Amino acid sequence: MWNIPPPYLQLQVHEVHVWRASLAAPEFAVQDLQRVLAEEEVARAALFHFEKDRNHWIVARGILRILFSRYVNIAPSQIRFGSNAYGKPFLVFPALSPQLQFNVSHSQDLALFAFTYNRQVGIDVEYKRADVNYEALAKVSFSPNEQARLHSLPYELKQEAFFNCWTRKEAYIKARGEGLSMALDQFDVSLTPGEPAALLGTRPDSDEAARWSLRELSVAPGYVSALAVAGQGWSLCCWQWPGLLSGSA
Ligand SMILES: CC(C)(COP(=O)(O)OP(=O)(O)OC[C@H]1O[C@@H](n2cnc3c(N)ncnc32)[C@H](O)[C@@H]1OP(=O)(O)O)[C@@H](O)C(=O)NCCC(=O)NCCS
Repeated sequence: MWNIPPPYLQLQVHEVHVWRASLAAPEFAVQDLQRVLAEEEVARAALFHFEKDRNHWIVARGILRILFSRYVNIAPSQIRFGSNAYGKPFLVFPALSPQLQFNVSHSQDLALFAFTYNRQVGIDVEYKRADVNYEALAKVSFSPNEQARLHSLPYELKQEAFFNCWTRKEAYIKARGEGLSMALDQFDVSLTPGEPAALLGTRPDSDEAARWSLRELSVAPGYVSALAVAGQGWSLCCWQWPGLLSGSA
């Protein structure tokens, strides 16, 4: 599923490109990537308490800039990002038409980057941590329909179902870009392992569900991931970031 990209890569209007990258990088690679960051990004990185988190953030932001540079054909350090009122980053420079949309997610040692033109896009990846209290988190984050479905599943399917639900909800929220101002109980996603990812219902506008496509992405052992894209009729290309590969990713 994760292909090595050709040297000259083009993003077609009907395509969604998702890149997978390992964030586990040697110190020299972190230094290299830090060089392409903007001043305010270096300052933001410095705020991380733990070196590992700081390095992961630098690597993810550096790779994002390099990937962008391939699509928009300018140097990575020249790209400028802004963010909306809820923190969702968007491209400020270069100003493009059609509009290049993107979203990023990172968890543990892995990052995913989604790019497409003219469609809202959201992506989420989660490492399946064992120390999560599923029932308690589901109670505050899932809709009544989702909680009932999770509750009905046998114990051995619950962890997978929980992370399916979490990543699908998060991908949809991130695509909408309204953060947690969106009520988590106002929409239902599929969660049963083996069933396709889908936005099953939305309230109060029940037509909203049909305006979105959700996909489960198989990223690496121990991780769960989902992609949300506005509309239908797009095709997915999955690319492997060529550097910094670790065993797990
Ligand atoms: C801001 C939010 C996107 C954080 O998500 P997260 O799962 O902690 O982190 P991820 O790694 O998936 O995403 C972070 C990236 O999303 C992007 N992002 C930030 N705010 C965003 C927003 N409002 N919408 C979309 N994308 C956003 C940024 O690129 C960020 O990367 P950066 O930190 O390198 O700048 C937000 O959805 C949130 O706070 N979620 C809380 C978790 C929760 O309760 N989820 C309920 C699910 S049932």
